[in-house]
Amino acid sequence: MGTPTYVYSYETLSRHYRVFDEALGQAAARHLICYSMKACSSLGVLATLVKHGAGVDTVSGGEIFRARRAGVDPQKIVFSGVGKRTDEIAFALDAGIRVFNVESEPELELIAQIAADKQVRAPVAVRVNPDVDAATHPYISTGLKANKFGVPVTRARALYRRAMALPSIEVVGLDCHIGSQLTQTQPFTDAIARLVSLIEELRADGVPLSSLDIGGGLGIPYEDGDAQIPSPADYGAAIGRALEPLRALELTIICEPGRVIVGNAGILITKTLFVKEGEDKRFVIVDAAMNDLVRPAFYGAYHGIWPIERAAVSAPYVADVVGPICETGDFFARDRELPHTPSAGELFALLSAGAYGFSMSSTYNSRPRAAEVMVRGDRWEIIRARETVDDLVRGERLPDFL
Ligand code: LLP
Repeated sequence: MGTPTYVYSYETLSRHYRVFDEALGQAAARHLICYSMKACSSLGVLATLVKHGAGVDTVSGGEIFRARRAGVDPQKIVFSGVGKRTDEIAFALDAGIRVFNVESEPELELIAQIAADKQVRAPVAVRVNPDVDAATHPYISTGLKANKFGVPVTRARALYRRAMALPSIEVVGLDCHIGSQLTQTQPFTDAIARLVSLIEELRADGVPLSSLDIGGGLGIPYEDGDAQIPSPADYGAAIGRALEPLRALELTIICEPGRVIVGNAGILITKTLFVKEGEDKRFVIVDAAMNDLVRPAFYGAYHGIWPIERAAVSAPYVADVVGPICETGDFFARDRELPHTPSAGELFALLSAGAYGFSMSSTYNSRPRAAEVMVRGDRWEIIRARETVDDLVRGERLPDFL
């Protein structure tokens, strides 16, 4: 396949889905997993999850298009995001999605108008911002007042009242998502507690809710010391307790996990180009870069790095593992202890790269995007061909006035 290449495990993906489904099943008899496809939206990954019954959480017309291509049932598609465009709303209505997670007053009005023009009713849930601290990286914390997401709890009732008055809107649910890579269950249960009291108020107002979307965000272990991160079973048990007061309502509980499904089901394989001994530092220069996996550069995120084959003789080697891009921020690890001295041509795996890996990749420095492969038992297949340099310039043209 050459390198860099993303490799996903069919069995691991399937197991992660099953385990999460069982955990959510313990918490809520009626439930729907809408895999948050921004984590990894490749068709082969989506189709694997579809096979196990997954729906998807989408945030753009492009994601809805992909979901349809992968065979997702439109009635299992939820559409989130603070900036839905007119064409995306129209596309989602035509596709017949399950619900729009509405994030503001003007968005509700726009959806109502587009639905009215089409003479259909748009199913909506209001995304509430519960103002809880997810205690995660600030860039991926979304449930605080200061974040752009959702409608404040204090405004939610008024927005539901408005939604109920719009003939082209059908109110179906309530939604919330507080952040990503959460390493405790408490913020989830705090958020649910706020939703429980809001649901009581909404019911008193006569709002007909049939679903509650509790978002995604359960973290995964990236480092050995991360073992204390709640498992899906811990998460299921905690949210089950938090949802107890709503049991009689028989709501469908929707959950939008992304990372926990795909994060540790994928690796990125890269080849060592050079080993460079600086004055104070050593650099292992590999052929993947921040355009392929941006998480270390963007969030200072940790990814394990492991040789594909162990050398016969091993003495630890400490180095920065870096890519070829012309930015100092283009690193995968700093002062990382590798199990042996790498040699040129040697392959390494960047671990836990399945989520927000390929999906956040770019062609920066005019680097074609990586290939993707899925492995099942002793079989493997290409699920995305490596981009070519011709792909890089497709759609470009020189202006006539040159
Ligand atoms: N639902 C909504 C509305 C979201 O915005 C997200 C993620 C999820 C579900 C899924 O969250 P998960 O289960 O994957 O934590 N690029 C960052 C993560 C950004 C997450 C954005 N929203 C990273 O690489 O860490």
